[in-house]
Amino acid sequence: MLAHPALHRSRVNRRLADAVRGLPGITLHDLYAAYPDLDVDVEREKTLLTGHDALVWQHPFYWYSTPALLKEWQDLVLEFGWAYGPGGHALRGKPFLSVVTTGGREVAYQHGGFNRFTVRELLAPIEQTAYLCGLAYLPPLVVHGALRLDEDEIAAQAEFYRQVLIALRDGRIDPASVADRPSLDAGTFALARG
Ligand SMILES: Cc1cc2nc3c(=O)[nH]c(=O)nc-3n(C[C@H](O)[C@H](O)[C@H](O)COP(=O)(O)O)c2cc1C
Repeated sequence: MLAHPALHRSRVNRRLADAVRGLPGITLHDLYAAYPDLDVDVEREKTLLTGHDALVWQHPFYWYSTPALLKEWQDLVLEFGWAYGPGGHALRGKPFLSVVTTGGREVAYQHGGFNRFTVRELLAPIEQTAYLCGLAYLPPLVVHGALRLDEDEIAAQAEFYRQVLIALRDGRIDPASVADRPSLDAGTFALARG
């Protein structure tokens, strides 16, 4: 699932999306394209979720969180009795991955740094939401310093993202083996694949 409110102006998310678009077995669901009026079709979204074995959220970091439409999606789609609570097992066991691009550099997302917390720590509400829904949470794939990346660096990040999604699709990532890592970087990814 992709959430970027101005994809035509994006440098990084657009390239990440292009890298995975059309991969067999992977649906690139562009939320802002699907719902330009921010009017989320809950039944359509539930059908999409039921029809897939893993869930990936790709988005820029906006105020240490998701763009607004992805928050709206959470509020509407993750229903009591469906996603959590009694009988709410629809998502149970599916791997979940956040793919986040940040304006801030990696050094800014450390204790004592400009943003004081790691990206994984700042994503705690999403991690706990995933936990509540029984999803198998993976450490986030973070593209730091998105505004400063040159062409080659963006291409390398896009290729890494493509490889991670292929491995996820093929069931070659074991969430338990990397559960405590701060992020899904190349080293963690190697671990995750066993
Ligand atoms: C409304 C808004 C909020 C933002 N909040 C943050 C933030 O909290 N932390 C951060 O590192 N960057 C923040 N940024 C920068 C974006 O994350 C950055 O521009 C984006 O990841 C670049 O990706 P793109 O080229 O695909 O747009 C924000 C940008 C906007 C427009």
